[in-house]
Amino acid sequence: MARKGLRRIGVLTGGGDCPGLNAVIRAVAKTLMHDLGAEIIGFRDGYEGIVLDRTMRIDWRAVSNILTMGGTILGTSNTANPFQWAARRRGKVVISDRSANALRVFRKHRLDGLVVIGGDGSMTIAGGLASLGIPVVGVPKTIDNDVLGTEQTFGFQTAADVATEALDRLHTTASAHHRVMVAEVMGRYAGWLALHAGIASGADVILIPEVPFHWEALLETCAERARKGKRFSIVCVAEGARPAGGEMVIQRRVEGSPDPVRLGGIGRLVAGSIEQKTGIESRATILGYVQRGGTPCPFDRVFATHLGHKAAQLAAEGRWGRMASWQRGRITDVALEEVAGGCRTVAPDDPLLAVARSVGTTFGE
Ligand code: F6P
Repeated sequence: MARKGLRRIGVLTGGGDCPGLNAVIRAVAKTLMHDLGAEIIGFRDGYEGIVLDRTMRIDWRAVSNILTMGGTILGTSNTANPFQWAARRRGKVVISDRSANALRVFRKHRLDGLVVIGGDGSMTIAGGLASLGIPVVGVPKTIDNDVLGTEQTFGFQTAADVATEALDRLHTTASAHHRVMVAEVMGRYAGWLALHAGIASGADVILIPEVPFHWEALLETCAERARKGKRFSIVCVAEGARPAGGEMVIQRRVEGSPDPVRLGGIGRLVAGSIEQKTGIESRATILGYVQRGGTPCPFDRVFATHLGHKAAQLAAEGRWGRMASWQRGRITDVALEEVAGGCRTVAPDDPLLAVARSVGTTFGE
């Protein structure tokens, strides 16, 4: 795979963190240092680092002992975007294009290419940098599992494991107190996390953004279970779930962020309605950031290492403008243009929906 002229490679982690980022940094750096003797320059805090020229040397010592570490040794940011740079001036957010800075910093460090480890927003920005002339390869991360062009992102499996364990724990306390337990999981506009954790824990109801729910159906499921002598129910709700004809619940807006919307709060709404309308005592638990933190599970360690190795190979072969990806059980790659600007949600004919229904789980339809 050796390729003459590839001497210095930049790497950054962008967007919300997820377990396995360090495993990718390690795999990219070790592969390129070992195979090509390349030097690796890390940019701190995602795209902020390449605009503000904040770097970190990634050498053998820097990547030693980080495989199992959560977070990212480089830091990250889910607000920094060189094309829509948000700065606060006199209390106001002012947006400007700082992509020329990014290009200048890239050239200043005499880099031959840039590895971007990020989600859909980071890949869209990476596509923009590629069109400015920066040779880029991408690695898809996120607990939401919603990056186009790959059937799975690293970090997702760990988050699904964490959410499943939490749901299992809610199960026992729900059964002891004869309550409805509602667990709100992350996932943004995609229901993958709720779907996987819900099926894994045998949730009675799963609510996801792709299948808008009907209040009557949801309440009837809980009431009917009670009538049949099942004295508790588990509802796994994605933060992006919404009632038919209704809106997603927005928790806050982060101005200047590529997508300013932050979802959250549907879990409390669901638990409150169930208790009020059925009379069954209900509680809501919002799992939140525990789903993103901590050590990657063994699957994600292997997967992240494999994706990082693939990204290093793409760089070494000069196959810029590509993202490492997972399709039909194999590591492969796709064009960044196919990834940019969209997100992968659960299709109406996804087999897992039928699987869940076949074991009695309802989607509040
Ligand atoms: O994309 C990962 C994610 O954790 C989403 O599931 C969630 O909606 C969002 O990030 C939260 O973002 P922030 O870290 O800005 O609160």
